[in-house]
Amino acid sequence: MNVQAQPERIWCNGEPFRLYLSEEQIQQRVRELAREISRDYADKVPILIGVLNGSFIFIADLMRALEIDCEVDFLKLSSYGDAKVSSGQAKIRKDIDAQLAGRHVLVVEDIVDTGLSVRYLCDLLQAHRPASLRVVTLLHKAEATRYPVQLDYVGFVIPNLFVIGYGLDYGQKGRNLRHLYVLDQ
Ligand code: IMP
Repeated sequence: MNVQAQPERIWCNGEPFRLYLSEEQIQQRVRELAREISRDYADKVPILIGVLNGSFIFIADLMRALEIDCEVDFLKLSSYGDAKVSSGQAKIRKDIDAQLAGRHVLVVEDIVDTGLSVRYLCDLLQAHRPASLRVVTLLHKAEATRYPVQLDYVGFVIPNLFVIGYGLDYGQKGRNLRHLYVLDQ
């Protein structure tokens, strides 16, 4: 798999994917989100909480596009494993180190699917008594979301399809693709 070029179709773990969002489209939207967040947090120093592994590329781009001071920490939830559908369970695999009490916390997600992970995470983070808690996600599979979640900033609302690239994986492959690809069923 050539991850540098921009082919219309690629294969990942033996399955075909087609180009869905180009690097340029993603970067433009990330800059727009960063402008909005910079405006909303103009007089604050938010702490961004990246949800590993999927959000590491998005959070790196988003942070660098912010025009305000900010901090960052990461936590890791149990993942899909090698599957393409949610396991229906969320569990912490790596906890945060930062003190969140009284802080303005911004959760950074790559994708919200059923909403289970972000719902679980928000409940968990609220227990730290932050001054505020908001969520930014690059992608939202709105039709698939079953758990009530408040998403404050959304990059793209997408159909209920499986996507890879820009940090998102299929069986740990595809994260280093510069563009987003969708499973070509
Ligand atoms: P949820 O808990 O069902 O909302 O799932 C959220 C997590 O599932 C994301 O953080 C991703 O790790 C993973 N996920 C959901 N949809 C996709 C997808 O289309 N491609 C890759 N990973 C996905």
